[in-house]
Amino acid sequence: MNRKRVVILGATGSIGESALNVARDIPERMEIVGLAAKSNAQKLAAAANEVRPESVCLVDETQIDVLRKALDYQPRILSGEAGLLEIACLIDAHMVLVAIVGTGGLRPALAAIKAGKDLAVASKEILVMAGEIVMREARDKSVHVLPVDSEHNAIFQCLEAARLRAGRDDVVGSPRDVRRIILTASGGPFRETPRTRFNSITPEQALKHPTWNMGPKITIDSATLFNKGLEMIEAHWLFAVEMDRVEVVIHPQSIVHSMVEFTDGSTLAQLSYSNMCFPIQYAVTWPDRVPNSLPPLDFSKLSKLEFSTPRYDDFPALNLARRAGETGGTSPAVMNAANEVAVSAFLDRKVRFTEIWGIVEQVMNQHTPVAHPDLDAILGADQWARAQAQECLQSAKA
Ligand SMILES: NC(=O)c1ccc[n+]([C@@H]2O[C@H](COP(=O)([O-])OP(=O)(O)OC[C@H]3O[C@@H](n4cnc5c(N)ncnc54)[C@H](OP(=O)(O)O)[C@@H]3O)[C@@H](O)[C@H]2O)c1
Repeated sequence: MNRKRVVILGATGSIGESALNVARDIPERMEIVGLAAKSNAQKLAAAANEVRPESVCLVDETQIDVLRKALDYQPRILSGEAGLLEIACLIDAHMVLVAIVGTGGLRPALAAIKAGKDLAVASKEILVMAGEIVMREARDKSVHVLPVDSEHNAIFQCLEAARLRAGRDDVVGSPRDVRRIILTASGGPFRETPRTRFNSITPEQALKHPTWNMGPKITIDSATLFNKGLEMIEAHWLFAVEMDRVEVVIHPQSIVHSMVEFTDGSTLAQLSYSNMCFPIQYAVTWPDRVPNSLPPLDFSKLSKLEFSTPRYDDFPALNLARRAGETGGTSPAVMNAANEVAVSAFLDRKVRFTEIWGIVEQVMNQHTPVAHPDLDAILGADQWARAQAQECLQSAKA
């Protein structure tokens, strides 16, 4: 299975574009057999015309004619939520890359696991919401969950390098030998901005990430540090470590992508330039490493690597996420959903930057968590949190 047959969900996004670059770079190891997006028919068609997957899916059924006209060959065309589930289970596919922003990737990810496909997970939201279910189903079906988020891919590489896999053929390391998982965070564009200036932050300023070029939702999350908060919970599920062993350190250069400290005090780190092709390739070729055209680090040009403690009081997202992760059950899903609503309202200029944290906290305070929820309970909590967050927005306006 050297040439992996991959379906990309979220093909028109930032991760989708990087995944297409990986496929161009290592065609002998990666073949794209399915591409899916939500509504961007032209971009989906352009990608499909180039890589010619056997199936394409556009969730938005009103754009299907646009897609059909823009395609210069005749793949199987799927649409709607049902189409997304179908393309996630293609018989021919080995792996499904879930790169859908928000919660839309959860059902197709679970369907792919049921169909026996390995998952490459960029969509951290699905592990935040339903990490317990996703990891359990993956274990039951003996499929691999390979992290694509650069930090988690880095941790995975450190665990692999240390041969800490717990005698099982999956990505879970051995928590016994891991003392701490240390997630690095660039700190976002406001790393050094005084809190007194936060109220005047505009979407344009928040969308200018200093080191990464990503979709709008994750870029705003990087500015509030909710992205790192979501990643703490993601790490907890992926690597089966308790929340109190997951820590965050600010590292503005985004060269060290994360670290694992072991019980003997040694720390392993993974380093590369900030380009999502690195983690995507490793997820696709794992356990192999193969040559590519990506630039290796030039240490003569790296003047410094800095590390510092996050400003927890000024960026409350980290404490909120720790609380949600430690509470567990439906709490992370509620935090995630309230954050999505708040971020979207900020991008629409309906709330100020600082109100994002306030809305999430208010919704979390109103929630009574359900322990070990099933999928319906998680989706119910997600919907409840969205409605509560909308109410917060209305009362903020009044
Ligand atoms: N970008 C990064 O560098 C990065 C790094 C680590 C993790 N991630 C994670 O990867 C995920 C994707 O991020 P991104 O930055 O690539 O986002 P993005 O650029 O906004 O792209 C989102 C993609 O998801 C598709 N999509 C949205 N809702 C959908 C739905 N309901 N059903 C099917 N497709 C849907 C979009 O299709 P349309 O274009 O048709 O709307 C688009 O292809 C997020 O969970 C993010 O946290 C991203």
